[in-house]
Amino acid sequence: MRYGIFSDVHSNLEALEAVLKAYEQEKVGQYYCAGDIVGYAADPRECVAKVSSLPGTAVAGNHDWAAAGLFPSEYFNSFARQAIAWTKSTLSESSGLGYLAALQLVCRNPDLVLAHGTLHGPQFFDYMLGFSEAAATFAALGQDNICFVGHTHVAGIIIRDESGGMRQETGGSCRIVKGKKYIVNVGSVGQPRDRDPRAAYCVYDSEASMVSIKRVAYDIRKAAGKIAENGLPAYLGERLLTGT
Ligand SMILES: [Fe+2]
Repeated sequence: MRYGIFSDVHSNLEALEAVLKAYEQEKVGQYYCAGDIVGYAADPRECVAKVSSLPGTAVAGNHDWAAAGLFPSEYFNSFARQAIAWTKSTLSESSGLGYLAALQLVCRNPDLVLAHGTLHGPQFFDYMLGFSEAAATFAALGQDNICFVGHTHVAGIIIRDESGGMRQETGGSCRIVKGKKYIVNVGSVGQPRDRDPRAAYCVYDSEASMVSIKRVAYDIRKAAGKIAENGLPAYLGERLLTGT
C-alpha cells in the first residue's frame, strides 16, 4: 500500500489543496492524517470536509479536541486560544465539531501506527522533541516497527537500531529495514516551523519499504490574507511566510 501521511493542516486550505494535488502524482491508496486539522488559519470547515472525505483515517490533535471541547484551551498560548475560540464559533456539530470529537488518539494497522504527539502518552499531546521521548514511544510500539507523528511542525525521522542505539535524520527519503524501528514526524501541511514555508507531506510505501518526506509550494499570501480578514491574529499569517 502507498500511504499519504500528513499532519497539522491547521485550517490552511491553500496548503492542503497543494498537498492533495501533489499526492495525485504519488498513486496513494490511503490517506492518514496525524491530527490538528483545525486551528490557526481561516478554513476549518473546508479542511475538515476535505480530510474527512479522503479514503483512510485521521487521529485527534490537541487543536481538534480543543475545538470540540475535549481538551482544555488553557494549555495553549494566546494566539492559539483565540484561533480555537474562533474555530469553535465557525463550526457547527455537523460541519466539523462532531467529526473532530469522534477522532481517536491512536490508529494501528498492520503496516503502521499513527498518533499526534507521542505514542506512549497520546492523550497528553506532548512533543516528540528528542531521544528520551522517542525511547518511550519505541517501547510503546511493541512488535510494530513504524510510528508516524506530527505536532512539532518539524519533519524528521528517528531510527532505533537492533542494539537500541538511536539517530535522527532531518527528512528526505529513508529505507525501512527489518529489525530497526522508526518514528517518522511528517512535519506540517499548514504551518511549517523549520524555516521552509512550503507545505510538508509524507509518502510511505509499505511494500517497497520506503518513507519519503516532501515539500510543495502553495499560495501563502492568500492563506495569510484570509487569516487577517477573519479577525484572527495577524501574526498567524505572518509566520506562514517565514515558516516559523
Ligand atoms: Fe499543530
